[in-house]
Amino acid sequence: MSIRVFAPATVANVACGYDVLGLALGQPGDEVIIKKSDKAGVRITEITGDDGRLPTDPLKNTVGISVIKYLEAIGAKEQGLEITLHKKMPFGSGLGSSAASTVAGVFAANELLGKPLTQENLLPFAMEGERVACGSAHADNVAPALYGGIVLIRSYKPLDVIKLPVPSELYVTVVHPHIEVATKDARQILKSNISFQRAIEQWGNVGGLVAGLYQEDYDLISRSLKDVVVEPVRSILIPGFESVKQAALDNGALGGSISGSGPSIFSLCKGEEIAGQVAEAKRKAFSEIGIHCDVYVSPV
Ligand code: HSE
Repeated sequence: MSIRVFAPATVANVACGYDVLGLALGQPGDEVIIKKSDKAGVRITEITGDDGRLPTDPLKNTVGISVIKYLEAIGAKEQGLEITLHKKMPFGSGLGSSAASTVAGVFAANELLGKPLTQENLLPFAMEGERVACGSAHADNVAPALYGGIVLIRSYKPLDVIKLPVPSELYVTVVHPHIEVATKDARQILKSNISFQRAIEQWGNVGGLVAGLYQEDYDLISRSLKDVVVEPVRSILIPGFESVKQAALDNGALGGSISGSGPSIFSLCKGEEIAGQVAEAKRKAFSEIGIHCDVYVSPV
């Protein structure tokens, strides 16, 4: 018997919530197939779609290490598992590529073994995969990939993750320019201190965004979609960032910013029609400076 699981791309940070807010897209995503084996231990038997870039050593592979940690935690270290990973997402895109693989892997293993852990309890193992991928066990990609919708990581120690309500007409559009940004590098360029004034602005916006989601108040969501801490630093890595962002706003987006560590740019929109127009405007703005991109639109 084998289990096949899809896990979606995600938009981490959602503008103001660096490392604490994330949302799931409908597509793209990665697929993992896991089956039991008589030979003890975890093996990565096949990886497709990665152009040979991912290690098949389970201790160095984000899916492998997460599943190994998971087996240790449930007392099944000797369990034999064979993993196939179908990568369907670009690397270094800011769309939570490693998170999609790890969440699919851990979820599939748990299903195959009869669900010894609840969905919530799978999160720390997926976070381990993030540590291998970029040196930091942030949860703002893995948590929305696991739960769907929009999530808030209120605290890391102890882990406290809250699924937020999603207004019925909320759509997300993402453009992925064909440039690669490594999350590790994009984290290293951030300042380790910010001014009190900036912190006040940022946490005001986080509160406003969360309140806007609860109240289905699209104007409040729009006013709160600002990042005064991370975007000013990271946007220099994305050619045309300001014009793409402006094109989205001019075409009716509620707001947006860098998706995760970039270079993808997301926008939240009210309604599918506006989301489609915003996606097209962003694609055009990138193409005017000679950058090709993929475009994704989905309800949140
Ligand atoms: N919160 C993380 C960051 C997400 O912005 O570095 C990385 O995908």
